[in-house]
Amino acid sequence: MAGQYSRIGVKPIAGALGAEIEGVDLARPLDNQIFSEVHQAFLDHQVIFFRDQRITPEQQLAFARRFGTLNVHPYAPSLEGYPEVLRIFKEKEDRVNFGGGWHSDLTFLEKPPLGSILYAREVPPHGGDTMWTNMYLAYETLSDGLKKILDGLKAVHSANKQYGIDGSEAARNNEKRSMKPNVSESAKAELAQPVVRTHPETGRKALFVNGAFTDRFEGWTKEESRPLLSFLYKHAVKPEFTCRFRWAKDSLAFWDNRCTQHYALNDYHGYRREMHRVTVDGDRVF
Ligand code: SIN
Repeated sequence: MAGQYSRIGVKPIAGALGAEIEGVDLARPLDNQIFSEVHQAFLDHQVIFFRDQRITPEQQLAFARRFGTLNVHPYAPSLEGYPEVLRIFKEKEDRVNFGGGWHSDLTFLEKPPLGSILYAREVPPHGGDTMWTNMYLAYETLSDGLKKILDGLKAVHSANKQYGIDGSEAARNNEKRSMKPNVSESAKAELAQPVVRTHPETGRKALFVNGAFTDRFEGWTKEESRPLLSFLYKHAVKPEFTCRFRWAKDSLAFWDNRCTQHYALNDYHGYRREMHRVTVDGDRVF
């Protein structure tokens, strides 16, 4: 039923992905028809946006639970009293933000997230936008020759670069105030995931590597992996595969983590930004 909506408005914001949804109040339980249209818009557009939603953490959690069970972030702490609500914030004096590089969420998990629902509590007067890129397009636009090579490959993912003791400088700064204690050792665990995944709901193939958590191709050295991974990271974020969302307080984004990457822009030093993220569990990657 792609593109057929009778109860909601769906306005694409870019050629590649992203659409604003109109006519939905997330403070109330969605009836089955509206829920099914929102779900369809999510599959059709990979990331959907809602404006002017005045919702409590309970209401954000209730919306998220319509899509599945919820993740508790293994490394970053949650909003007090709400283990499934990740509090993402940057204070006026901070220099480094959370999510300030292209990534898909938690791809080192055996079952990486289906998606995340991000709600804007406080936003800077300008800057602090988020970008997404379409990983279906990233895969579909590769040559048949490279697709054939990638189709048979796995890549090793780990949390270490972001959350480990020897994580990147950016991650250390970023997380030093907002890391759960004593978890960085476990960040060393590695897991091989297919480089090309088949989306469990749409059946489309998407490229599934990202610079934050992918370390190397399985059975290849890091040095051997680097040139091809660098090419794929660069290819995946071509401007024409992306969209960019300008936040306002009470805006909400819901992205499909199985076929997108996202990037939180860090261009608002001197201003505060606070978001609440709820992440829905996904499936094993095939
Ligand atoms: C994230 O990576 O989940 C953060 C996105 C954002 O704050 O815009």
